[in-house]
Amino acid sequence: MTTILQISDTHIIPKGSLVSNVLDTSASLKKLVIRINKIRPQIENIDCVLVSGDISDDGSSESYERFKLILAPLLLPIYVIPGNHDSRENMRKAFLGSGIFQKNGPLNWHKKIGSVNLIGLDTLIEGQGGGILLPESLDFLKEIINKLKSEPIIIALHHPPFKTDIKFMDAIGLKNINALKNILSEYKGEIRIVCGHIHCMMVTNLNNHIALSAPSPCSTFSYDTRSNAPVGFMNIEDGCLLHHWNNGFNSIRIGLSCGSGPFPF
Ligand SMILES: [Fe+2]
Repeated sequence: MTTILQISDTHIIPKGSLVSNVLDTSASLKKLVIRINKIRPQIENIDCVLVSGDISDDGSSESYERFKLILAPLLLPIYVIPGNHDSRENMRKAFLGSGIFQKNGPLNWHKKIGSVNLIGLDTLIEGQGGGILLPESLDFLKEIINKLKSEPIIIALHHPPFKTDIKFMDAIGLKNINALKNILSEYKGEIRIVCGHIHCMMVTNLNNHIALSAPSPCSTFSYDTRSNAPVGFMNIEDGCLLHHWNNGFNSIRIGLSCGSGPFPF
């Protein structure tokens, strides 16, 4: 059994400021950490934390240090991929200790966690909202998939490899979805593709594998498919995901609050 906690789009900024003058993203993440530690006796052992991009809102080194301090009470290994708000080199420096990064180039990595092969893919184009899997990233994935044959895999990337119909998010989506799909088509085992970017949970199918996006602990984008939908975020603290492998994957959303109960039926 293997359990991976996926936290996405935390948008941490240096102390003393709010994201877009509205969100105290550090306070939201602290609440999530408290919530996770509270429910740990109820769930299987968590093996690691996967952070699927937009860790920082401004890409500053200070924001990555702040992020690490907030997550420290989880006492878990942390593996990260960049989102469009991140700085690749500041991230490389901040998370060098995880031992998964190359010295140069995209922040792609592969780490065996229990029974699951966790693969992180870098889709960041510095200075742009949209993302791409560079040829070297696609080759990196191809090589691992060819070696693994049928072991369970989680592929993590920031930009969803699917259309969301939220127009302003699709405009800054992944540019080469089909290139990823082609690599997955031959694989015999289970692959779960997980992402962030859209600050809400959406589930779809990618070449017979489930692909899903994680909510964000600090905000969400409304599912508004109108072409004139207002561009912006809602201040809902929406939570995170747990991916549990026990001869098959289950993905569970964990919110920041749990209500009261359980009340007997
Ligand atoms: Fe984000």
